[in-house]
Amino acid sequence: MHVLVIGSGYVGLVAAACFAEAGHRVLGVDVDEAKVATLSRGESPIFEPGLDDLLAKHLTSGALRFTTDLKVGIAAAEAAFICVGTPQSEDGSADMQYVLAVAGQIGEAMALRAKDAKPLVVVDKSTVPVGTAARVHAEIAAHTDRAFEVVSNPEFLREGCAISDFLEPDRVVVGCRSDHAETIMKALYRPFLDRSGGKWFRMDPASAELTKYAANAMLALRISFINEIANLAEDVGADVDHVKLAIGADHRIGPAFLNPGPGFGGSCFPKDLQALLKAGREHGHPLMTLATTVEANRMQKQVLLRKVKAHFGVKSGVPAPLKGRRFALWGLAFKANTDDIRESMALELIDGLVNLGADVVVHDFAAMEAVKGKIGDRVRYAETPLAACEGADALLIATEWAQYREADLEAVAGALKARRIFDGRNLFRPEAMEAKGWTYHSLGRRAVEVQGS
Ligand SMILES: NC(=O)c1ccc[n+]([C@@H]2O[C@H](COP(=O)([O-])OP(=O)(O)OC[C@H]3O[C@@H](n4cnc5c(N)ncnc54)[C@H](O)[C@@H]3O)[C@@H](O)[C@H]2O)c1
Repeated sequence: MHVLVIGSGYVGLVAAACFAEAGHRVLGVDVDEAKVATLSRGESPIFEPGLDDLLAKHLTSGALRFTTDLKVGIAAAEAAFICVGTPQSEDGSADMQYVLAVAGQIGEAMALRAKDAKPLVVVDKSTVPVGTAARVHAEIAAHTDRAFEVVSNPEFLREGCAISDFLEPDRVVVGCRSDHAETIMKALYRPFLDRSGGKWFRMDPASAELTKYAANAMLALRISFINEIANLAEDVGADVDHVKLAIGADHRIGPAFLNPGPGFGGSCFPKDLQALLKAGREHGHPLMTLATTVEANRMQKQVLLRKVKAHFGVKSGVPAPLKGRRFALWGLAFKANTDDIRESMALELIDGLVNLGADVVVHDFAAMEAVKGKIGDRVRYAETPLAACEGADALLIATEWAQYREADLEAVAGALKARRIFDGRNLFRPEAMEAKGWTYHSLGRRAVEVQGS
């Protein structure tokens, strides 16, 4: 099958590479000329495990090509996926300008299709508000009388394991009105579902659009819930590790998304929650659980800074109270295995520390360039995790890279001024840290304070 994938970001690139892997002829499109040039050389502009290999394989085989001009592939295409960004507008709603611009471009290019060609299946894969399939349909129809149908096919991949999520989905959601569209979509996804045993859900486009927002809202709600339980656990002398395992063993609850952390970030949850809140308000159904989830997350993003301030006795009204202190910060990406720093909690932590006068030395395995581009020399950048710790008063951990969990803590202790860690990802157990003489603050477990530290 011939497939157009418009937008070559995290979602579009992964979709393009995976459809090529399934044996389709794929043309990836992006307006960013530099990105298309990079991709055409076989280099990936983003960090996503496994993506480089798939790109190289299918650029070589010829199954995958990139262009800035969607007209190149429109005549032969059976499906055209819209995978462009839907960032947050000032009023919280999803900014639809990129999706609608692509719809207009598809409409204009439709004249290149044969009059008797089968209807082009235009697929909204971007995360979009309910009613977008109809808007995209109207935008395309304004330019053409050639046959097409707009389908909603929300994407559930997770950055960091996007390739395996795409190749082995739990489920595929398709909002469509015709059997022709369902047949095309099934042909595209059948190899993946056969491999994973995942479920196929056909529904109307509005339900498919709402499913994506509801899924993200539910996951965010679980994160904020366990974060609040963790905060309470610290105050009442409980251990959140025991609590999460025991509640997760209840099959009605399940164990996923019950790890406390420094607040959720990334390119999806924050903006998607705002868009859903806005939709609720507009329809006279304010989503109260969601509003509280967002507020709890806003406060949670301060959790490490609160602990640092309490430990170092920072008082309000004192100018630059952390002047002369140096902090090593491990982790900049909003989660492990990605270079994505959109809404990353680490950036807020850096802001807080620097505003209090501290010197911050950072390390990340993939996101250093992105942070340099955003905040430049506000912090210093270390080549290795150990180098970041050199002469620092404490180590702060914001991202759960596996390599940090496996770090040689004795070497870290040798580099730091004191054995002191503030761990936003609960990488270590408090008892083990106490036995080795560390001052160790984590989330939802007792703090270990070494006298005089
Ligand atoms: N990143 C994720 O983990 C994830 C997961 C599920 C769903 N989504 C959703 O998928 C959509 C895309 O997200 P992303 O993270 O891949 O975005 P992104 O910002 O990484 O990529 C978007 C790409 O679209 C390109 N683009 C913009 N206008 C274009 C046009 N007219 N023609 C061609 N290309 C154009 C941009 O240059 C960019 O490369 C969003 O709606 C997002 O909410 C993202």
